[in-house]
Amino acid sequence: MSMSVEYDRIMTEGDNQLEARLAEQEVFEPSKSFVEQANVSDPEIYEEFEENWPECWEAAADLLEWETDYDQVLDDSDPPFYEWFTGGELNASANCLDRHLDERGDEAAIEWVGEPVDEDDRTYTYEELHREVNEFAAALRERGVEEDDVVTMYMPMIPELPIAMLACARIGAPHSVVFAGFSADALATRMNSAESEYLVTCDGYYRRGDPLDHLDKANQGLAGVEHDTTTVVVDRLGPNGDDFGHDLGGDQVDYGDLVAEHEGAEVEPVTRDAEDMLFLMYTSGTTGKPKGVKHTTGGYLSWASWTSQSVLDIEPDDTYFCSADIGWITGHSYIVYGPLSLGTTTMMYEGTPDHPERDRLWEIIEEYEATQLYTAPTAIRAFMKWGEEFPDRHDLSSLRLLGTVGEPINPRAWKWYYRHIGDEECPVVDTWWQTETGGMMVTTLPGVKDMKPGAAGPALPGLDVQILDTFGDEVEPGKAGYLTVQKPWPGMLRTLYNNDERYIDEYWAEYSDTGSDDPDDWVYFPEDGAKIDDDGYITVLGRVDDVLNVSGHRLGTMEIESAIVGVEGVAEAAVVGGNHDIKGEAVYAYVTTEDGYEGTDELREAIVAGVEDAIGPIARPEQVVFTPDLPKTRSGKIMRRLLENIADGEELGNTSTLRNPDIVEEIQQKANAE
Ligand code: WT7
Repeated sequence: MSMSVEYDRIMTEGDNQLEARLAEQEVFEPSKSFVEQANVSDPEIYEEFEENWPECWEAAADLLEWETDYDQVLDDSDPPFYEWFTGGELNASANCLDRHLDERGDEAAIEWVGEPVDEDDRTYTYEELHREVNEFAAALRERGVEEDDVVTMYMPMIPELPIAMLACARIGAPHSVVFAGFSADALATRMNSAESEYLVTCDGYYRRGDPLDHLDKANQGLAGVEHDTTTVVVDRLGPNGDDFGHDLGGDQVDYGDLVAEHEGAEVEPVTRDAEDMLFLMYTSGTTGKPKGVKHTTGGYLSWASWTSQSVLDIEPDDTYFCSADIGWITGHSYIVYGPLSLGTTTMMYEGTPDHPERDRLWEIIEEYEATQLYTAPTAIRAFMKWGEEFPDRHDLSSLRLLGTVGEPINPRAWKWYYRHIGDEECPVVDTWWQTETGGMMVTTLPGVKDMKPGAAGPALPGLDVQILDTFGDEVEPGKAGYLTVQKPWPGMLRTLYNNDERYIDEYWAEYSDTGSDDPDDWVYFPEDGAKIDDDGYITVLGRVDDVLNVSGHRLGTMEIESAIVGVEGVAEAAVVGGNHDIKGEAVYAYVTTEDGYEGTDELREAIVAGVEDAIGPIARPEQVVFTPDLPKTRSGKIMRRLLENIADGEELGNTSTLRNPDIVEEIQQKANAE
């Protein structure tokens, strides 16, 4: 990617979007009743944190229980390898469980709602969750898991997933959760990359009423793992008679048997250094190879906890509902670690919002009297399309706050959410952040700031976010530029697993003086375009790298392209994102065939299957267009911008620098013909 080309794209796109947005721009004040009870309601916090940086972050660390106090808030002697709360020692599982037992042992920690209605919902009190986490921690240990061994989890939204995560945290074994919707290949790639010898998975789960065979996919993935493994299999379907009749292999054990064998076991939480790895999370980048983002015990947990308290306004008595999947960072930070560290009740829902009917989410909120809902713009756009009759069927008055995450939210969807779900009483927090940032970065503090639909908000207190141009100068308000973070923060990734060099290249090199050891010379670049207004509110415009955001899920174009060129008969492929009403972005593929092959329906199906096998159904192309050639510059670079124009049905941009200008119209005609 050439940054300047992408910059132009963001600039023009940004200006159009800005115009559309300004027309609608309005300011919404949080309701008085919300402000009065908010965890954070003092506007001075911004100034205080700025003046008292980095010590201000003691406020985050103070939310946790430390076995040994830290000596230093921030060690910035070796940027960009920052260390937070150095010398401190703690255990994440003890922070999420043990310390709540005295006061909240009988309160619900997890309310789990299975997809089949009212069949097998489960409540885990803190006491019960603590017990099962201990039993499973003992079992993992007995199976040979030692401190610092990476344990992979390939599981859907069932309670055993957070149980396994917390059991790992208890014994100091970092977890690496792979989204259950990812393919067998994706699982193998991640287990190989992390040299992970342990897998926790399950037999299957429900999707829109049907049982889905998950173990079969897990087994296919395991076949691609290069080293010996031990697998624990949770029996999710068994009691319902929907079992697929799997026989466990010799290196596979049943979760239920393991836990029963260790009934009543107690495992002393392992003392972890603040900087010890809590987990790895693989995410897509600009190359074909997913990167393992490393998060730590002290900094990450403080960040998840502090942002949960101040932005989601979580209190112990809440019943908080985040509809994300734990297989993504949102679920790690805002279903598991943030809420449980605060001793609240966190909800988990196994299914989709439209099963058995399009009011399922609202039904759950009414039944459990949920106090917050944190979801994604893609879901909100779908709700809006289905119509307000579905939420209108239910009493949603228990809700106090609404949140969104994952991609920009258009003002119309924001207002629909505010009005029809929040009854104009609940503040909406539009939270910008990334897998790498560990938690929220840019959003309004709901008890302090007004909201502007379409703009995420100002940076949180204690963060220095600036919008820069290509030269590294701050852009004027209203102009598009690049989002940058100028100072480190506790929740930041520490590196990419086993790849310090790529860590620097991907996130720092663009705007830093990489030869310097002065932290002021280091700037974090999240690869998003953005603009800022006169009040410091930031509107995020989207990725400026070759990364797509499909339904709030991050996908690398290179990953998809390499899956496509792996299909027999394909010569070359270019993948771009096109606008999509519900998904935000959708995958569009432009493909040339090898001599002797033609763009037949069979080949198209093989391509779709190839993408699903390599990554998963989320990456399935919306359209596959066969073309004799791809639009290329004289130097052979594919002009993705023109393909984006085609995907969006827009007028074509400048084709004069192409060596084959005629091809663009030809592709356009082919795309339209389908
Ligand atoms: C990318 C990060 C954060 C957890 C879920 C996604 C985009 C995220 C917003 C928002 C505009 C957003 C960015 C970011 N993004 N939140 N509120 N407004 N864009 O995590 O997979 O690491 O993706 O999602 O482009 O870089 P992720």
